[in-house]
Order: sequence, then structure tokens, then C-alpha cells
Amino acid sequence: MPLHLASRRQFITRLGAIVALTHAESPAAEVDEDWIAVLNDTHIGARHPETASIPANLRTTVSWLLSQPKRPAAVIINGDLALRDGKAGDYGHFARLITPLREAGVPLHLTMGNHDDRAVFYDVLKSEKPRAPVVEARHVGIVPLPRANLFLLDSLKQTMISQGVLGGTQRQWLAKELDARADKPALVFAHHNPRLGGNPRNFPGGLEDSEELWRILAARKHVKAYVHGHIHHRSFAAHEGIHILNTPATSYVADKKTSATGWTMLRIADDGAEFTTHTHQPDHAWNGAREALKWRV
Ligand SMILES: [Fe+2]
Repeated sequence: MPLHLASRRQFITRLGAIVALTHAESPAAEVDEDWIAVLNDTHIGARHPETASIPANLRTTVSWLLSQPKRPAAVIINGDLALRDGKAGDYGHFARLITPLREAGVPLHLTMGNHDDRAVFYDVLKSEKPRAPVVEARHVGIVPLPRANLFLLDSLKQTMISQGVLGGTQRQWLAKELDARADKPALVFAHHNPRLGGNPRNFPGGLEDSEELWRILAARKHVKAYVHGHIHHRSFAAHEGIHILNTPATSYVADKKTSATGWTMLRIADDGAEFTTHTHQPDHAWNGAREALKWRV
């Protein structure tokens, strides 16, 4: 089972930096087991200067996470890690930016987006490559937490193709693993928005097999929420009782009047979760905005 335990693995980059990190080597910081961070669309480029806004945004977010009195139980970076087409240099820069989280022993979980290249990603962030993939050519995982299980899916269809797809094999794997974990709420993460459940219903880059996925999710009452990026905006919707959370991009937005860059903190309770948005622009209306969601029963 591909439980994501990235913080315990060796973290090796092509740049020659080899950092062997374990929890034992890190100072014991208190972990809040009901608190997780969601970042997406980091879009880090090989040639971004250190002072450019895109890497600076990710650095700011990483610093904020490490400055909190307690650490989140998981940090998920939900796809489009690389700038445009998943070059090795992009992942090398990305790896450097997330190193402080690794060094602090924070469990970090990465998913693939349409601007990623799975093979290059594995080539640079070697510790991410599973020895025996449970879904062929897909980067998936399950993160067990006390009050929820997080299912991390891979919706990358093809690098630089805006649409995403899970495919039958991954959907079957998901159904089986959901059935094996029906005792706790399930939160599903993938980069692409489903083409369901309100705006952005018709966003052209959405998940092609949204209908097939939703048949699996809706039939299993313990599935409570689907969390995605890709839109570079923030919105909340629901379909068949499953919350759909479109979380802000870390990197940039299309229109600064309507959107802001940032990240999302989830506080998971027994009957729902509270989602708090943090923006890099301190005075943006989204900064500190909270959304309390109840789980369907
Ligand atoms: Fe995307």
C-alpha cells in the first residue's frame, strides 16, 4: 500500500544534494493531527530568480507553515508543481524550495497536474517513485489521519494537455481502497476540477471522467469532499452531497481583481471541516476567510 511517508525517506535531487531525513533527526515539534495544509499550482521554473514572485510565494507559504506553534499532520501540494512542461530544472528548484519542510520532518505529499511530467518528476525527486506502483504509471497515495483518510489521485493525462483523466484502472483502485476504509470520512484530492457541481462547470480543462468518478464517490457515503486546484481561483460547490473545494494557487492568478494567490488550511472534525484561506496579499478579502462545511450523512 502506497502510504505516503515522504518525510521518512531519503530525499535526493539531481543537483547532488542528498539529505537523509528522519523524524528522529528533527527536533520533536508537536503535530496537530487534525490540521492539514493544501497548496497547489506552485508552477516553479528552473530559471525563476529567487526574488521573483512565484518562488517567493512558495517560500512565504513554507515559512508560515514552519512558524506555527504546531505542525500540520500533512502538507499536500496538489499538482502543477512545475512551471510549464515539467523540466528537470523546474523540479530541482521546487525541491530546494520545499527542503525546509522536509528538514523539519513535515509529511509532504505531491500530486501531478497537467504542467507536470511524471517521469522527469521521479527522475529528480527520486524518493517519490514507488518501488511497485499500485496503479501503473500513476502517482497515487493514501494518507491515514485520525479523523479522515486522504486519497491522493493522479489526474495528469498528458503534459501540457489541459484536460485531466483518471482512467479505469485508477478508478477501480480508488473504489477498492475506499471500500477497505469505510470506517472514516474520505477526502479525495486531485489536481483537476470535476466537470460537475456548479462553477467552473464548463471550465475546459476539467476531469474527463468526472461522471464515472462521481458514480464511485456518490455511492460511498463516507466520501465527503473532493479538493482540486487547476483553476487558480477559490470557490466552493457541491454535487450529490460531496463538497467540491477549488483551492487557490500558490503561484499566480489570471485576474488580481477577483483572485489572489495563497494556500488553504483544513481543520478536520468528526462531522465536517473548516477551511481557512491564507493569501500572500495581506489585505485581500480572502485572507483569513473561513468556510465551515458539514459532512453528508
Ligand atoms: Fe493545471
